[in-house]
Amino acid sequence: MKKLIIANWKMNYGPIRAGGWIRAFRRERLPKDLDIAVAVPFVSLAAARASLGRASIPTLAAQDCFWANEGAFTGEISPTMLTEFGVGLCLIGHSERRANLGETDEMVARKAAAAQKAGLMPVICVGETAAQRKRGEAAKVVRSQVQTAIAEVKGDGKAPLVIAYEPVWAIGTGRPCSPLDAKEMHEQIRGVLRKKYGHLAEEIHIIYGGSVDTRNVAEYMTTTGVDGALVGGASLDPRNFGLICRAAVPA
Ligand code: PGA
Repeated sequence: MKKLIIANWKMNYGPIRAGGWIRAFRRERLPKDLDIAVAVPFVSLAAARASLGRASIPTLAAQDCFWANEGAFTGEISPTMLTEFGVGLCLIGHSERRANLGETDEMVARKAAAAQKAGLMPVICVGETAAQRKRGEAAKVVRSQVQTAIAEVKGDGKAPLVIAYEPVWAIGTGRPCSPLDAKEMHEQIRGVLRKKYGHLAEEIHIIYGGSVDTRNVAEYMTTTGVDGALVGGASLDPRNFGLICRAAVPA
């Protein structure tokens, strides 16, 4: 399967800087055999799309969505608003939202199902904390997060799903998970997907996130079961993100 690399700007770059990032990234030489997306703040989607022009790379992604399509939900953005805008993917349940806003596995499940139903591919983020890993609970925690999140999500159709394994202790710390540990966790996740989706599970991207950079991306990409990467800090510089994309696919 084609690898998938997603840039996650988090709460960086309003419309002015978003346009500049896209224009700079469009000048990068990119491998053909790679899917690339960029998750930008809601208010920067319009500028990002305008700067993309007719280019279709990178695909625009959102960083969150709500579980209802319309109604009295002040401040929320719905999956259909995003698809109407031409957004293709949406991060769901990023650990920063779980930690700062109290998003639960059940909320993640509702959002993922609503996104998929609207034709927006959910990128479901899961991962254990340092304390959970220390207690030897990493696999159990992550299996349960995935199980709950995909309860109402289908394994096929036009917007299937992506799972992003992002150990909380590796995010933004410069202390990435070893490829061997990532491999083990991806196998655990694949097992949960197989149980629910059968052979379709082999087609679902399971990507790794947490301190991915230009130096380590190639090693993850050659690790069995790692189908791509979610890149935060190292994606903020468009040239650096271009380097990551080139390093992800051997020339
Ligand atoms: P990081 O963030 O690459 O800065 O560790 C990854 C993420 O949170 O998606």
